[in-house]
This record gives sequence, C-alpha cells and structure tokens, in this order.
Amino acid sequence: MATHQGRCIGVDGESYDEFNYYIYNEFNVQMINIIAAVAKNRAIGFQNKLLYWLPNDLKRFKSLTTGNTIVMGRKTFESLPKGALPNRRNIVVSRSVSKLPGCDVFPSLNEALAHCSDQEDVYIIGGASIYEQSLPLADRLCLTEINDIPHEADAFFPDYSAWKEVWRETHDKDEKHHQQYAFVDYVI
Ligand SMILES: NC(=O)c1ccc[n+]([C@@H]2O[C@H](COP(=O)([O-])OP(=O)(O)OC[C@H]3O[C@@H](n4cnc5c(N)ncnc54)[C@H](OP(=O)(O)O)[C@@H]3O)[C@@H](O)[C@H]2O)c1
Repeated sequence: MATHQGRCIGVDGESYDEFNYYIYNEFNVQMINIIAAVAKNRAIGFQNKLLYWLPNDLKRFKSLTTGNTIVMGRKTFESLPKGALPNRRNIVVSRSVSKLPGCDVFPSLNEALAHCSDQEDVYIIGGASIYEQSLPLADRLCLTEINDIPHEADAFFPDYSAWKEVWRETHDKDEKHHQQYAFVDYVI
C-alpha cells in the first residue's frame, strides 16, 4: 500500500486542501479516481446524454483531468460532442472497435489500466458500465452530487454508500446552475 498526495479541487480550479490518500489499487498507476455527476437517486444519464448542464462541474472536470489520463466506455466516447478531449490521454474501452481518433483503445478495463504507468493519474469518466466495473478498483471518488431527482434516467452510478466522505464543497442554485450541487470526494 502506498500513499499519494491528492488535491481536492473546487469550483475555480484552486487546490483547497491536500490529502495523503492511501492507494490500494492493484495497478501500476499513481491513483485511480472516478469522476461523475450523480443525482440523488444515483442517476447519471438518459439516452446517452448527461442529465444536467452545470458549467462549474465542467470547469472542475477540466481542472482535475487536464494533463492526466481519462478512461471511458465506448458509448461515453460517442456522447462527446467533439470526440477526444484535448490535453489529456484519452483511453476508450471497447470490444467492438479497436481504433478511435485521438484515443488509445483497449478490449477490457483491466488491459486499459495495465497499460497506464506509475506516472499517470487516472480518471474514470464513465459511463454506467465502466463505473460499475471500476468501483472495486478505485482509490478515490470525485463526485458532483446534484440535489435533484430527474424525471427520466436510464443510466445509474453504482451504490457507493460504503465509501467515506473526506471533502465537500456545496453550491447553491444561481442563474447558470438550476440545481443545488456539491463537490464531494470519497475514499474507501
Ligand atoms: N453523469 C456523469 O458523470 C456521466 C459520465 C459519463 C457518462 N454518463 C452517462 O452514462 C451513460 C452511458 O453509460 P453506459 O453504461 O450505457 O455506456 P459506457 O459505459 O459509456 O460504454 C459502454 C461500452 O463500453 C464498452 N465496455 C464496457 N465494459 C467493457 C469491458 N469490460 N471490456 C470491453 N469493453 C467494455 C462496451 O463497448 P462496445 O459495445 O464497443 O464493446 C460497452 O458497450 C450515458 O447516459 C452517459 O451520458 C454520465
């Protein structure tokens, strides 16, 4: 077991706090983080689209993942409006395709993680099937918890009630954010 100095990043991209996280992951990577925006009923998507438009969530996502490695399922890749995200290594997991522009593609999650180095901080960015499979492998959850239950959803985050909250930053609604939300970090 190793430790890693992790940063909790708030809305303006500032580092608010530093933690020594215990790293349990069995792969040779610095840290396996899961990042997701989750409603109160753990809903995360409908018809391969996100449920909420929260500019501060997108900003935080960019702050955390830029310069690092993101891992996603093939359907989440297809939901990205402009394809691979810039300035970070994009990894896609798929059994049906082996090449995608700007991405490294692997036929399993284990193979994807096995091809990351100890210099890489890995962020699992979804969707539901990849979150489900990676939850037992992850060191940290970086969630945006939205204080809402959507009318419709067909993709859900797995149960994370066993995880321990270590950091929280709450935000009220405003003209750009129509739901209350909180950035919350958990460790196992
Ligand atoms: N709220 C959030 O933070 C957030 C973030 C991301 C996504 N989402 C939402 O999540 C939903 C998509 O989730 P999803 O579960 O339908 O799709 P997904 O996890 O994005 O992608 C599923 C695909 O990934 C591949 N895959 C999954 N496990 C694999 C494995 N072990 N080995 C090889 N390939 C594997 C398969 O691709 P092939 O079929 O090509 O084999 C599978 O069809 C959307 O609604 C999206 O908007 C929400």
